[in-house]
Amino acid sequence: MSVNPFIVQRPIKYGEPFCNRKGEMAQLESAAKRSEAICILSIRRFGKTSLINQVAGHLEDQGWITVRLDLSRSFSVASLVKEFETALLAIKGRWERLIGHLKSVSTIRPQLSMDPMTSQPSLSFDFSRPRDEMNALRHVLEAVVSFPEKTGGDETRLCLVLDEFQNIRKIDPKGRLEWIFRSVFQERSQRFVPFLLGSEKHLLRLMVQEESSAFFKGVTPMELDVLPEDEVVDFVTSQFQRGLKLKMPESRIRGVYRIFGGHPFAINWFWAEMWSLEERSKYLEPIETYVQVAVRIILNQRDYYEAINSKLPLGARKVLLAIAEHEPVAKVFSKDFMVNACGMSQGSLQSALKVLIEEDKIKKTSRGYIVNDPLERLALAVADLDEDELKIFVKARIEQEE
Ligand SMILES: Nc1ncnc2c1ncn2[C@@H]1O[C@H](COP(=O)(O)OP(=O)(O)O)[C@@H](O)[C@H]1O
Ligand SMILES: [Mg+2]
Repeated sequence: MSVNPFIVQRPIKYGEPFCNRKGEMAQLESAAKRSEAICILSIRRFGKTSLINQVAGHLEDQGWITVRLDLSRSFSVASLVKEFETALLAIKGRWERLIGHLKSVSTIRPQLSMDPMTSQPSLSFDFSRPRDEMNALRHVLEAVVSFPEKTGGDETRLCLVLDEFQNIRKIDPKGRLEWIFRSVFQERSQRFVPFLLGSEKHLLRLMVQEESSAFFKGVTPMELDVLPEDEVVDFVTSQFQRGLKLKMPESRIRGVYRIFGGHPFAINWFWAEMWSLEERSKYLEPIETYVQVAVRIILNQRDYYEAINSKLPLGARKVLLAIAEHEPVAKVFSKDFMVNACGMSQGSLQSALKVLIEEDKIKKTSRGYIVNDPLERLALAVADLDEDELKIFVKARIEQEE
């Protein structure tokens, strides 16, 4: 049996089936070669990590060293230091060589020691001289950034990927960590490039796009959008054709794309489910199968967003629902929206909007406010429907002709 090519629940690795993003991949690869720092922003589950995995894999094929760190579970400067230490160790498996390199970084004294439990030798760092954790971070970061020059071959190039990078602002709300990263990155040679990724767009924008921010003009922002419809059609068609010798009806692929608004995760999940249906050929044609699979995903995601949004203030939740229902909302403070749709005073509407923007729930477009995440928009649109109503809703959307 063919392996399911639609990977869900984890980022897609290099070499695994990945839909398009050719433009972004080319842009990132040429940025790497020019040593241009990039910050990739998108809401969660749009495929940032999967995309960078493809780019990193491709760079590795060309002899690059890549270091990918996920900072989503780093909650202190000390844990950041640890992440980078571990990364340094991993860069070149050969300890001797690494020790040679680290010795050249004046303040870090690597020491080989025996682990008393396992009797395995392990490498530890002695940070006794730079007591201060901020300093320790600067030094280990410098060691990573200067790695290509400090180690042998002229050809060594290093791409450092810092995923969920906005976390460093949470670790240090005053933004001091950002200035450390910035000043070390600024000293980089052409052989090093940093790629910064993050899903909390509001926070990341503060970090890279505000004039007073550390990375202002120092990194190029790149926003990741939903997948383009035609590319999804090609991707799904070719996977089913190649793996199962099945011809997927194009209109259905477009219908599914439409209902999920191009959301990469939802689409990939949908087709993963379709792929694993038993007696596929019998089931692939009838619309009921599509409706059933889509409804299951939507119900699951409705719970997911509800759980997330339960942390929002009540007023903000109310406004979010109203925006989903009326979007694009051009005049938020009109009587129609403020009073009739939200039933709120100007002050409370204002603070609700502020929360929603800060939480990346909504965004302001030229046409007015809209819900940021297409899957969340769908979840909100069907918030009050029971399962039968939802089926009717989904069926109509899938069958609707553009
Ligand atoms: N280009 C793509 N092609 C196919 N599926 C994708 C693509 N990008 C994202 N996905 C789907 O979305 C899921 C989440 O992707 P991920 O890279 O973890 O997103 P992010 O890092 O932005 O949160 C993946 O597991 C996959 O199912
Ligand atoms: Mg990710």
